[in-house]
Amino acid sequence: MNDLLDITTTAATDAIGTSAARLRSAELEERIRYKPGRFRVLTGDRPTGPLHLGHYFGTLHNRVRLQDLGVEGFLIIADYQVLTDRDVAERLVEYVEGLVLDYLAVGIDPDRTTIFTHSAIPALNQLLLPFLSLVSVAELNRNPTVKDEIAHSRQAAVSGLMFTYPAHQAADILFCKGNLVPVGQDQLPHVELTRTIARRFNERYPTGGSPVFPVPDALLSAAPLLLGTDGSKMSKSRGNAIPLGASADETARLIRAARTDADRHITYDPVARPGVAGLVLLAALCQERDPHAVADEIGAAGAAALKRTVTEAVNEFLAPIRARRTEYARDPERVRRVLRAGNERANAVADETLREVRTAMRGMY
Ligand code: TRP
Repeated sequence: MNDLLDITTTAATDAIGTSAARLRSAELEERIRYKPGRFRVLTGDRPTGPLHLGHYFGTLHNRVRLQDLGVEGFLIIADYQVLTDRDVAERLVEYVEGLVLDYLAVGIDPDRTTIFTHSAIPALNQLLLPFLSLVSVAELNRNPTVKDEIAHSRQAAVSGLMFTYPAHQAADILFCKGNLVPVGQDQLPHVELTRTIARRFNERYPTGGSPVFPVPDALLSAAPLLLGTDGSKMSKSRGNAIPLGASADETARLIRAARTDADRHITYDPVARPGVAGLVLLAALCQERDPHAVADEIGAAGAAALKRTVTEAVNEFLAPIRARRTEYARDPERVRRVLRAGNERANAVADETLREVRTAMRGMY
């Protein structure tokens, strides 16, 4: 466990800059291949709907890759975090169990990756209290991702949870001493805050031995931004996504309704033709081909031919994932067992970390 802490960091990661994080990520990739056992991955999702192709190419396949390289994983279903931008978490059981199905279907192995929920791990949540004491209101106020989410929130007022959830996310990462956080660019400010909290805790509460927390690194995946069927970012809440669990017919329907443009000749030009380029990219990712080659092959055949190609590519790609998902869905008790076992394990880890935290803070019971 302690050698998880034994990861030296470079000055480059002190900058929030994406390019620094990219450089650092390349360096980390090398170390992961060399010694996967030194790393512990923590990532997660909010249970706000089914996962889709954007998640797959953005993060899921990267999680499975790290798992298969031999990195131990923790996967949080962040149910409390749902309440950051809405009053009530709707259809929670359905979405939580749906996430577990999506994870299992894409190849997450619950024996190697601990799948758990926020709300079942009291000791994780308690870490939020000392962590909040380590950050200033001004720091919370500066978080660009939170600012953006507040701008898009459907709530009239900003809740305290919206304002403080990045510190809660630090607890998600640090409760299990995660030192590797594979995320998209929008999550970098949260990882930066987590690093700050880990450093400050270790400085303020020295143990005499090794520090309580590792200073975790973000691992940026090289995935391109996947566009939805309306030409804007593929997103659960925008109704423009192709869910992993959708049927082949639903997929055909979603793609048929996708927005294209009046130019019959198909090209790959993400800036000038986002709708067409989004579809081309989808086919290219599913077929592991170059998007320009996909566009050239369709050429003058037009948008209808493009949509046929994309539908076929997506359905073929997702067929084995969907078959596994259907198989697991037949056994809901198994899904619940996976969660129960994950929560039990996460609780044991969280209790131990909280014990170390209280000891380091001296006098806390
Ligand atoms: N905020 C993340 C998202 O919206 C989900 C999340 C919760 C998370 N806790 C995390 C991601 C910890 C990485 C690490 O996608």
